[in-house]
Amino acid sequence: MFVTFEGVDGSGKSTQAELLRDALVAEGRDVVLTREPGGTELGEAARELVLNGPEMSPWAETALFAAARAELVARVILPALGRGSDVISDRYVDSSLAYQGIARGIGIEPVLDLNLHVVQGLMPDLTVLLLVDLELAAVRSGATDRLEREGADFRARVDSAYRQLAARFPERIVALDAARPADELSEVIRERLRSRI
Ligand code: TYD
Repeated sequence: MFVTFEGVDGSGKSTQAELLRDALVAEGRDVVLTREPGGTELGEAARELVLNGPEMSPWAETALFAAARAELVARVILPALGRGSDVISDRYVDSSLAYQGIARGIGIEPVLDLNLHVVQGLMPDLTVLLLVDLELAAVRSGATDRLEREGADFRARVDSAYRQLAARFPERIVALDAARPADELSEVIRERLRSRI
């Protein structure tokens, strides 16, 4: 089972990805948790460049995220799934569709097209999209990297982008209101997965 978490910065995805990992491990499953960008040596280098590097064109940004993702899929995700582990990823292709495809204005299709090659066709069985109040998310996330410093307009574009993606891929993306306490939300997510794993 391959599950991804998505949402704006500060939506609480990382917490939920960890709580789901803990819940599955407690049930005796073998779980690999990854985060994007990062998770491999090249991915960490790309992460540093894209988050703390110079201003760059939208396509350069897309290509750096794609390079990190290609490594993660080839070296970590596919081997783990091949061994029979579950994989949970904190961000995946939908981040590029939302941030670069829609919010940066490249368009969903070209970014999806590139990414389908990059991930060798591997899309998640389920994607959990966490929807939060944008002001709360802004406070939670701070403004520590280049993308987080984009400000409220950009954050609103990303939020609307994710909602568009949820409408476009209703079988794969489950959108949940993330306002409730983390432990309650985690149980809701586990319940939603139960029918699938
Ligand atoms: P990170 O510090 O990991 O943020 P978060 O904890 O919110 O995931 O930084 C990831 C940033 O990179 C975040 O602002 C989203 C952005 N991003 C993209 O724009 N496109 C992508 O494909 C990915 C994976 C991330």
